[in-house]
Amino acid sequence: MRSQKKINIAIDGHSSTGKSTVAKALAKKLGYIYIDTGAMYRAVTLYALEKKYIGKNFFDKQKLISDLDQLEISFEYNPETQKSETFLNGQNVEKKIRSMEISQYVSQIAEIPEVRRKLVKLQQEIARKKGVVMDGRDIGSVVMPDAELKIFMTASPEIRARRRHKELLEKGQAVSYDDVLQNIIERDQIDSSRKDSPLFRVPDAKLLDNSNLQPDEQLHLILNWVEEKLK
Ligand code: DC
Repeated sequence: MRSQKKINIAIDGHSSTGKSTVAKALAKKLGYIYIDTGAMYRAVTLYALEKKYIGKNFFDKQKLISDLDQLEISFEYNPETQKSETFLNGQNVEKKIRSMEISQYVSQIAEIPEVRRKLVKLQQEIARKKGVVMDGRDIGSVVMPDAELKIFMTASPEIRARRRHKELLEKGQAVSYDDVLQNIIERDQIDSSRKDSPLFRVPDAKLLDNSNLQPDEQLHLILNWVEEKLK
């Protein structure tokens, strides 16, 4: 489905609902750019961990805030993997940012207004050109409030934990199902209750509960919504 007219598509929702998988497939199908905003928050988290600004029972927010101007986050397409990969200050951090350790700290980093301001600015610059599929938590509400299509994805915490656990095991990360479920529940709570840009379903977002949907059924459903918007 290729059309002259280009729209922006905002995909928000709970952790591990498969937002990035569907957003990537959608972007490929439409010939649009895919932006994984969670990867940006993860890259900032990696920086804070490596600098030892954050760790178990400590967090020096001020140090991170004063370094923000020096942080450069970008995406580069890797023709070998056919995927866009995340770069932090020129270094490919794609693999590192997907670890459980990053997942444990990322919600605390994403709560900081200065971090959000920096990343939202970058995201809005990318969205200006249209033809963008962006996934995150505040895309339909803050980053692209004028996106033509907004989707809010969810699924039960247990189903999400099962999928995520399988994925982590396949990547060779030895974690227990219970730890994954716990992390998902905690992140839902922090993401939805934080002061700055909490996760919520904006009234004009289409609700997509994929607890009982196969990936191809889901993509088909979204493509129908896109088609309606392109008419
Ligand atoms: O989508 P993800 O799991 O990779 O996102 C990692 C974290 O980043 C998530 O716990 C919430 C935060 N996040 C956010 O606050 N705003 C976004 N637009 C994207 C992610």
